Amino acid sequence: MKRLDDFRLKMGRHELVPIVIGGMGVDISSTDLALEAARLGGIGHISDAMVNTLTDRRYKTKYTKAKQAQFQYNVASEDKSDVKFNLEHLAEATRLHVEKTMARKQGNGLIFINCMEKLTMNGPKETLSVRMNAALDAGIDGITLAAGLHLGSLALIAEHPRFREAKLGIIVSSLRALQLFLKKNSRLNRLPDYVVIEGPLAGGHLGFGMDWAEYDLEKIVTEIHQYLLTEKLDIPLIAAGGIFTGSDAVRFLELGASAVQVATRFTVTRECGLPDDIKQEYFKASEADIEVNEISPTGYPMRMIKASPGIGDGIRPNCEAYGYLLDANGKCAYITSYNREVAAHPGERRVSVGDKTCLCTHMRNFDIWTCGQLTWRLKDTTHRNPDGSYQLLSAEHVFKDYQFSTDNQVKLPEPELAVSA
Ligand SMILES: Cc1cc2nc3c(=O)[nH]c(=O)nc-3n(C[C@H](O)[C@H](O)[C@H](O)COP(=O)(O)O)c2cc1C
Repeated sequence: MKRLDDFRLKMGRHELVPIVIGGMGVDISSTDLALEAARLGGIGHISDAMVNTLTDRRYKTKYTKAKQAQFQYNVASEDKSDVKFNLEHLAEATRLHVEKTMARKQGNGLIFINCMEKLTMNGPKETLSVRMNAALDAGIDGITLAAGLHLGSLALIAEHPRFREAKLGIIVSSLRALQLFLKKNSRLNRLPDYVVIEGPLAGGHLGFGMDWAEYDLEKIVTEIHQYLLTEKLDIPLIAAGGIFTGSDAVRFLELGASAVQVATRFTVTRECGLPDDIKQEYFKASEADIEVNEISPTGYPMRMIKASPGIGDGIRPNCEAYGYLLDANGKCAYITSYNREVAAHPGERRVSVGDKTCLCTHMRNFDIWTCGQLTWRLKDTTHRNPDGSYQLLSAEHVFKDYQFSTDNQVKLPEPELAVSA
């Protein structure tokens, strides 16, 4: 019986353990988590979602405060088109985040950054360009293009000296999306170094509609694998979404994938950026506690724990401080929903907004608990403490469980000894 460790992911001159820890914004796939993946010989991701806010919290910069002060005059206005990001600050924040991560890297693995196109930041092209170029400047090993078709993204870094050396990949959920990407980028004469195929059971935003349950990751991987063989394109495929055990992972490698991308099992590790009390919510969740809904203003369905405090919350839009989801015209679907509710409930101090959420504020505050479909199985991956809480895991433990387990087994950690008085 094969183990994941019997395979290697070849990427250029690198031979890697075929385990990728997926990007999880905002700072859920933290520097510490990504570093562990790299130290153990796999690939870790940081994320550049809300990077100014992230560096303010981690490294005491003041970018958010400065932006809030600059646009304070606009807080009561419905029109957010003025609220632009300072591109210099955005570049500095991205470089800081990447440099601080790469400076601590050990081992033979790699660290990539997850770059979501849907973070349109009231200036989609220029802000994405700054984020990607700054990450390359700061020495990131690779960029994973996420949450969008990215038809023009590679062109934004084509002049960067590291364009042909850094690893560049894209996340797709269908053959069609991959074909569009390849066609659009063919004139750059540079294939992606890897393609992540994310199926319907993943966490975060989904590349499917609300009919996600009708899709099957194995089918999509097989279809894309066949297509690449026919076209004689040698691009490693990385399967993602609902891969819970080492045996699940082996199944995908035997289907033609070169690695797996996993995330949910790492949400309950000590290195993960979620606060510890929220990690307990992930452990506790049952299958009935998880839903896919349409409250994200991005327009993509998103999976989350139903008890997330951000669901239904009617906070005033915080675009002057954040504004990461403002589109090219300074609009966000949450602003429209919020204003509708305010108009319908005159005089009320706090309204409730059911159809959309202020994703910036709530992801920043860890109040939207996005998760993979198999989150309900996390409770079976650890021990229960005497006080009823679940024992947190180390990223190394989970990584090695994927790497070495067989027979659909999940290895439990060493129980933590009770501290005697
Ligand atoms: C908490 C959480 C946050 C996520 N955030 C992002 C994100 O910001 N960008 C992205 O491309 N994928 C995101 N994902 C998807 C993961 O990177 C990964 O592809 C997927 O969840 C793998 O499936 P699994 O969670 O079942 O292992 C997120 C997943 C989780 C669980």
